[in-house]
Amino acid sequence: MIARMATNPLPQFPAGFLWGVSTSAHQIEGAVDERAPSVWDAFSAGPGHIKDGSTAAVACDHFHRYPEDVALLAGLGVDAYRFSISWPRVNSPGGLDFYDRLVDALCAAGVRPVPTLFHWDLPAELDWMDRDTAERFAEYASVVAGRLGDRVKKWITLNEPAEHTLLGHALGAHAPGKQLLFDALPVAHHQLLAHGLAVRALRAAGADDIGIANSHGPTWAASDRTEDVEAADFYDLLLNRLFADPVLLGQYPEGIGELMPGDVESDLKIIAEPVDWYGINYYQPTEVGAPEGAEIEFSGLTLPAELPFTVKELEGYPVTDFGWPVVPEALTELLVGFRERYGDRLPPVVITENGCSYDGIDDQERITFLDGHVRALHRALEQGIDVRGYFVWSLMDNFEWAEGYERRFGLVHVDYDTLERTPKASYNWLRDALRAQR
Ligand code: BGC
Repeated sequence: MIARMATNPLPQFPAGFLWGVSTSAHQIEGAVDERAPSVWDAFSAGPGHIKDGSTAAVACDHFHRYPEDVALLAGLGVDAYRFSISWPRVNSPGGLDFYDRLVDALCAAGVRPVPTLFHWDLPAELDWMDRDTAERFAEYASVVAGRLGDRVKKWITLNEPAEHTLLGHALGAHAPGKQLLFDALPVAHHQLLAHGLAVRALRAAGADDIGIANSHGPTWAASDRTEDVEAADFYDLLLNRLFADPVLLGQYPEGIGELMPGDVESDLKIIAEPVDWYGINYYQPTEVGAPEGAEIEFSGLTLPAELPFTVKELEGYPVTDFGWPVVPEALTELLVGFRERYGDRLPPVVITENGCSYDGIDDQERITFLDGHVRALHRALEQGIDVRGYFVWSLMDNFEWAEGYERRFGLVHVDYDTLERTPKASYNWLRDALRAQR
């Protein structure tokens, strides 16, 4: 029996508020031999690319064990499950059948399926430096919607194009392992274009509940010195505005449009194709200062000396086992900042990811983390911000990209030797908290 932490009841959220949990295909499915390769398969095989030397070849073996995972979702009592569809699997014979079965199982369990069409596992033969990848993505979106659209009503185009650009193409810490620094900007543009083209493709297939999952967090200047404020502003532009402005305002932040490839003005009209809601993945704020001319070790990454900013460790906050600061109030700040910047152009918001990495099954720290963030979210609602849903990252421990299996973000513990799933204290806490919301 897992000890339960007594927390005060959560504030009541509006009726119809969508409670869910998230995962992604590459992080949980395994069964890599039963699909075409993705850029992550080749990257994981590279020496030193994954810290514990692992790969996602088996991961949680969700591909074969999905009925057990759907039962865990039903037991948790979430309204919705955000998962991702593996594009290379869809390109493989019978690949879509798997998602067909998964969606059927979710519907039968009373859990709404919310697929993300792209969560970083690009088919190995494609490259986001090529504009054509955006067109191919729209074709893929049509194929998936044609097959699942009778049961899937809520869609997410892309997950975190910012991280995929930065970690995968600028710094080389993620697949495909390119280190292009600012020459990676076309990757951002082509993903955003892919988003807009996919919104059109999904609409053509009858969808009317479409969003994107962008990662955002407040950027805090290290001091009020002009150099720090300017460096923080530039970081904020790269990680936040560069990905939100085109979608919500139909423009790039100043100075960025001219760096992008192709007919940017006409592409922006596609990128700004209206979405029904805007998804935000929130983990932490970032403190940023003027460049110090030296490499920086930050959050498991080595940032090159030539970047025009320094990312600092935030002091004075508790940290997760990953070393990430726990700052729930920054979620309220982020949402208030979004409303200030985007005003009427901001559609309803859904928190598509929020969570933390802690070891252990009696994970009281995760309960404290989630409790704090849900309350911070409620404070944003009280300030009139239209937030419609909250998804915890993640249903279960999984392949945490370059970190391998050492970082555990799950509400459910996975024993990677036996693949046994064990609900953690946080799973029970969330289940009870959701019951109290009904
Ligand atoms: C990603 C997830 C990842 C999580 C924790 C997000 O950036 O969408 O795939 O596991 O953060 O790092």
